[in-house]
Amino acid sequence: MSRTYWVETYGCQMNVSDSELMEGVLTADGYRSVSTPDEADVILVNTCAIRDHAERRVLGRVAELNRVKKNRPGVLIGVCGCMAQRLGERLMEQADYVDMVIGPDAYRSLPQIIDEASRDGGVVDIELNPAENYEGLEMRRASRVSAWIPIQRGCNYRCTYCIVPYTRGDEKNREPGAILAEIQKLADEGITEFTLLGQTVNSYRFDGWNFARLLRAVARVPGVRRLRYTSPHPNDVTRELVEVMAEEEAVCAHLHLPVQSGSNRVLKRMARRYTRKEYTQRVELLRELIPHIALTTDIIVGFPGEKEEDFRETLDLVNEVEYDSAFTFKYSPRDGTPSTRMDPETFVAPEVAQRRLEELIKAVREIAARKNLAEVGSTREVLLEKRARRGNLLQGKTETNKAVLIPGPDEWLGRYMKIALTGTTGATFTGYPIER
Ligand code: 5AD
Ligand code: SF4
Repeated sequence: MSRTYWVETYGCQMNVSDSELMEGVLTADGYRSVSTPDEADVILVNTCAIRDHAERRVLGRVAELNRVKKNRPGVLIGVCGCMAQRLGERLMEQADYVDMVIGPDAYRSLPQIIDEASRDGGVVDIELNPAENYEGLEMRRASRVSAWIPIQRGCNYRCTYCIVPYTRGDEKNREPGAILAEIQKLADEGITEFTLLGQTVNSYRFDGWNFARLLRAVARVPGVRRLRYTSPHPNDVTRELVEVMAEEEAVCAHLHLPVQSGSNRVLKRMARRYTRKEYTQRVELLRELIPHIALTTDIIVGFPGEKEEDFRETLDLVNEVEYDSAFTFKYSPRDGTPSTRMDPETFVAPEVAQRRLEELIKAVREIAARKNLAEVGSTREVLLEKRARRGNLLQGKTETNKAVLIPGPDEWLGRYMKIALTGTTGATFTGYPIER
């Protein structure tokens, strides 16, 4: 009987993609996936370290999974991803039921790590390996409709709040030939939507290739119908790149462009390396060349030194850009990042940060709802991606990355359909197909 596994994923798209990679490595080694953790011999939890809140939640979940071990001795629990990388051995000291602590550069040797852990007990593998390029590993993809394609790992920026450069190391870019071959193969299998992934995906460089050139080449692979990328750094949004986005039909009219703050003073303390003006100039360029583009963003409030007037500038920027949606966060100090060493007197009181967050969320929601309401009554091409979690509905997305729910049979999954938008909750749409 083959051994079984269960992988659970928290955090960003890179983690979703990494989990598909781990599942691929295990499958290639003869493991079989099961549909609940209670049936698994090996349980892997792929974690995020970006905010304290995320880490606490995952620790709670891992403690809960310990019940499986209590019922079936011999089961192994592994913690993978950024939190594993950040805490290393300390994780096992905190939670002695964790058998394996596995950093992102160790996934290739998962089978060996599991063997070692079942033989000798606790294994920690958090070596960052600049030579690990993840080539030659087959992913076990969850969707037959869209695919995540990691083209870059790590990050060379050093934003002062961010743990990622420490958990994932320096930027490493994949060879363009391997990326194109992988996408061609998946397109031949019928996948039509592709999202290129990287921490600062548009800083991609390899020999004579930059990101604009790669994006154009991918857009022209036969069978690629929708192409996205995430997350870009604003500084690497060049005119050349925006031109490729505008010219290549497959590239979707949506960009998630993290701004973090609308205040120059705060941007500087964050070491974002752009001013508000430089950011909005990129936005103007995007809208000039791609008038119907949807823009989304990430914003942090309560960064050390953020004064009320800085926060007002963030609100003002949100009103100026009119984002289609935004992820909003309270600053969370991460050990080892430069921001934690700033003058303690500049730290923003939790209740002030909370109040700013609420005010920001309200502003973001109002704008999103107003923009989405204006789309009700129009017709959009929707790629039907999966069955929705609730109701007997299918879930799809517009080119601009907006979620649409429609009634329909499973046979429609993977299809592009013209959908009349009939309503919106503010964030997602309802609709019905106007042609079959
Ligand atoms: N505190 C709060 N938010 C953070 N992010 C990254 N680091 C932190 C932190 N220490 C946010 C940024 C980033 C998103 C993925 O998470 O907005 O773009
Ligand atoms: Fe973190 Fe900044 Fe790198 Fe993004 S660009 S991963 S926020 S250091």
